[in-house]
Amino acid sequence: MDKFVIEGGERLRGTVKISGSKNAALPILAATVLAKGLYTIGNVPRLKDVHTMSRLLNVLGAIIEWTDKDTLRIDTRNVENYVAPYDVVKEMRASILVLGALVGGIQRATVSYPGGCAIGERPINLHLQGLSSLGCEVTIKEGYVDVIAKRLRGARILFDKVTVGGTENILMAAVRAQGETIIENAAREPEVVDLARMLKKMGARIEGEGTEVIKIKGVDALTPCNFDVIPDRIETGTFLIACGITRGNIAIEGCEPLHVQALKEKLKETGMEIMEDGNTLKAAMTRKRPLAVDVTTNPYPGFPTDMQAQIMAFMCIARGLSAITETIFENRMMHVAELRRMGADIRVVGNTAIVRGSKMLSGAKVMATDLRASASLILAGLTAFGTTEVSRIYHIDRGYEAIEEKLKGLGAKIVRRKDEDMAS
Ligand code: EPZ
Repeated sequence: MDKFVIEGGERLRGTVKISGSKNAALPILAATVLAKGLYTIGNVPRLKDVHTMSRLLNVLGAIIEWTDKDTLRIDTRNVENYVAPYDVVKEMRASILVLGALVGGIQRATVSYPGGCAIGERPINLHLQGLSSLGCEVTIKEGYVDVIAKRLRGARILFDKVTVGGTENILMAAVRAQGETIIENAAREPEVVDLARMLKKMGARIEGEGTEVIKIKGVDALTPCNFDVIPDRIETGTFLIACGITRGNIAIEGCEPLHVQALKEKLKETGMEIMEDGNTLKAAMTRKRPLAVDVTTNPYPGFPTDMQAQIMAFMCIARGLSAITETIFENRMMHVAELRRMGADIRVVGNTAIVRGSKMLSGAKVMATDLRASASLILAGLTAFGTTEVSRIYHIDRGYEAIEEKLKGLGAKIVRRKDEDMAS
């Protein structure tokens, strides 16, 4: 296993380029099984999760290869297998996104029932209720979800909770249903909109994507397309905070400022200066310490849950008290214990963390527990006095492309090392 060794105190300077969005790329890759043929998907990040989704598409019969740094060519002409096996799905629960694509593509899917993960139980009841409403026969046996769609028919589906994956799965099944499907209380995330954009390029008839009501008129067939994935808004936000926490001055290129509005407003309240210039964000922090702000996570366009751990690291050095409330996942505070090892003063009451900012964190050996918690520990290490070692960084490799190279490019002192302390 690897670890990152970080020497804190460097103020980040320079330019960083944002990679394609992990959470847009995954459903977009899954959607290639909706129509047999050749696809070229651009701006795809080289991440462990993208590799896992590629492996899964291979198992289903697709041929997938990188044609250059960030472009995948996918051939789904021979996709016949509809079974997504346990050994792949256990690697990445987002594999469940092939469920809707297989149902829409070949009207049959058997997908290993995804387990929970560190941040929560992650049920898929809303996905399955939606598929049943579309006329699917859904059964769960021996740890697999089995879906047969003799005849997909449009339906009105009301999600009693906003679900990104649920909205994406139903979108991909409904595009081939007879008649109209209306999804109410739909997720509005940019990744859902990007998937809808690709489906429309394939001939789907969709309107309302990006709002809480999406209408889909089923079509008899879809055709393959070429498509470029949007930039990763969570990577963008993570680098904005890397700038703030190190009192840096950076330019973030190849991002979509529109997708980080809630975070940007919050960071301006802390005293950061952030300016937009097309697809570049220029950020600077001249204050010695940020002002403390309160944060509550919400579905898009609210403050993203995937940025909660990162802003908590930032608030650990703020002037004052910050209340950070997590409303999306039931167990997304595991970074608190690790931040405390670095001297952070944090009390968790229910789903709210009360952070009393201190002048300085101190470097320590800490352990990553999940993808975004890893990012928050790296951010804390960038500002902490002395050396921080972040172990189990396989978590971070799932969702950030070459993060240590990008940080080094901004002047951070960070290296990847073999972790002798951790059994391999
Ligand atoms: C997506 O997960 C993202 N993953 C997550 O990013 C992100 O945190 C999450 O959306 C929320 O924005 C991908 O896009 C691959 P949900 P998803 O369904 O779709 C409950 C990261 O760090 N729920 O919107 O699984 C669920 O338990 C990852 O990149 C049900 O109760 O999230 C949660 O409390 C982490 N029943 C809430 O809804 C269901 O059937 C939101 O989950 C489905 C969800």
